[in-house]
Amino acid sequence: MENIRNIVILTGAGISAESGIDTFRSEGGLWEQHRVEDVATPEGFARDPDLVLRFYDMRRESIQTKQPNPAHEALARLDREWSDRTGGNLLIVTQNVDDLHERAGANRVLHMHGQHLNAWCTMCDTRSTWRGPLIDRPACPECGVAALRPDVVWFGEMPYRMDEIYGALRQADLFVSIGTSGAVYPAAGFVQDARELGARTLELNLEPSQGSRWFTEARYGPASHIVPQWVEELLA
Ligand code: NAD
Ligand code: APR
Repeated sequence: MENIRNIVILTGAGISAESGIDTFRSEGGLWEQHRVEDVATPEGFARDPDLVLRFYDMRRESIQTKQPNPAHEALARLDREWSDRTGGNLLIVTQNVDDLHERAGANRVLHMHGQHLNAWCTMCDTRSTWRGPLIDRPACPECGVAALRPDVVWFGEMPYRMDEIYGALRQADLFVSIGTSGAVYPAAGFVQDARELGARTLELNLEPSQGSRWFTEARYGPASHIVPQWVEELLA
């Protein structure tokens, strides 16, 4: 892709689907198994914290048994090689709370919805890596109070590091969206922001998303096939 230096890649649940992690809105997805209002909102947590802590404990335990797939590995290769090859920047912004990008070897990953391996202390606001269950109300490693919640952004809460994301979009020559339905803002609006700022836009997804009309280029198929193919061409 000629004249491409700075790339922003947005990933969603679809990139981890072939690793065995449920997406949210596909057939049988997470939001068919659980009510969003109950497990992904601050109100749900206030109403029934045990239900929410058990939900995330189960998700955390399940995610730790999953492995990155060729799509994660291809992006990790791009993350390693792009800057040396072009002097440009690459940023992976993920809506996912799993750590499969990192386990595949990617370094520049920004989790706008938080990370399942972190716990957030509602008393002292510290975030710490947390692999065990939260249902037993463990003490915060910083302040010692048993006030830990999952460090995951819920509906109605602000996503993380939005200034950094918009800063990268302003510099982007190419915006790529991988494995997201385009159902949830502000992530769903990044493609329009990128276009208005003059970037080329590419959608890599199983099927057209809710935002597919905003993309100038698109390839559809399983991420484990189409993402390595696209990276191979880009680095050729
Ligand atoms: P939103 O209103 O942008 O979400 C729109 C879509 O999310 C809806 O089309 C629906 O698909 C789903 N949704 C939202 N609320 C729902 C509900 N009560 N029941 C069923 N589906 C629902 O989301 P928002 O409230 O503006 O989110 C604020 C921020 O929180 C956004 O940045 C979003 O990305 C983030 N978020 C994170 C998570 C997570 O699990 N990490 C979940 C939801 C939202
Ligand atoms: N390869 C590529 N894309 C896939 C694959 C696959 N193997 N399997 C599914 N997809 C696509 C689906 O077609 C869908 O467009 O991935 C997308 C998954 O969409 P969602 O389940 O809505 O997940 P996501 O877009 O990440 O949700 C956004 O909503 O609930 C919130 O915070 C939560 O971060 C999540 C946000």
